[in-house]
Amino acid sequence: MIEIKEMTKIYRTETIETTALNRINLHIPQNSFVAIKGPSGCGKTTLLNILGLMDRPSKGEVLLQGVNTVGISEKQRNKLRRKTMGFLFQKFNLIASLSVFENVELPLLYERVHTAKRKEKVMAMLKQLGLEGRKDHFPHQLSGGQQQRVSLARCIINDPLLILADEPTGNLDSKNGDEVLRLLAELHKDGRTIVMVTHDERYAAYAERIIQLNDGMVV
Ligand SMILES: Nc1ncnc2c1ncn2[C@@H]1O[C@H](COP(=O)(O)OP(=O)(O)O)[C@@H](O)[C@H]1O
Ligand SMILES: [Mg+2]
Repeated sequence: MIEIKEMTKIYRTETIETTALNRINLHIPQNSFVAIKGPSGCGKTTLLNILGLMDRPSKGEVLLQGVNTVGISEKQRNKLRRKTMGFLFQKFNLIASLSVFENVELPLLYERVHTAKRKEKVMAMLKQLGLEGRKDHFPHQLSGGQQQRVSLARCIINDPLLILADEPTGNLDSKNGDEVLRLLAELHKDGRTIVMVTHDERYAAYAERIIQLNDGMVV
C-alpha cells in the first residue's frame, strides 16, 4: 500500500534548518495496523503529513499503491487523498460553524454525491456511531468523545482504504480513548490500513507493528 524510500524532510527557515525526517525507509502493506511512537519533535506528524499528501518530502520517494506521489501535480495529489484517505486528529478539526450533519457530509460534497444519497449515507453513519440524536448540534455543544466520533464519521464516510490518525486519543479520557481504538480496530478488521501516532503503550498494543522514531530516524 505504502512504500517509502530514502525519504528526508528538511524544514528551512531564514535562521535554522531542521532535519525532521532523515532517510526513512518503510513498507506498509495493505490492511496493516501500524502505530508510530517516539518523543515529541521526532518527526511523527511530519511523517503522517507526508503520507497524507499534505506535505512533500525534500528527498526520496513515497509510493501509494504504486503511484509515486512526489512527482505528481497538486491536483492529482488532492484527488488521490480524497479517494483513498481518511484523517483523524488529536484536536478533532471539526468545522465550528457547521453542524454535526454538515461536518460528516463535507467529503461527500467534494465527491459531488447527490443530495438524497448524501442524506442517506450521513444518517446511516451517524446512526452507526450513536450520534443520530446530535445531528443538528454544533461541535462546541459536544463532549470531546462525541466530537472525535463525529470526526471518525467524517473520516470514514467515503470508505477510505487508508486511515491516518495523529494522536487521536490525545485529548480524550480513557473511556472515550478506548472507544476510538475499538472503532479503529473494527475498521482494520474490515480491511482498512491504519497508521496511528500514539504516545500511549496501551493503544500502541492494538497495532500489529510499532514503528519507533527517534530524531527523524526509524529505530
Ligand atoms: N512547519 C515547520 N517548519 C519548521 N520546522 C518544523 C515544522 N514542522 C515541524 N518542524 C520541526 O520538525 C521536527 C519534527 O516535528 P513534528 O513532526 O511535529 O514532531 P512530532 O509530531 O514527533 O512531535 C521538530 O523539530 C519541529 O520543530
Ligand atoms: Mg506531532
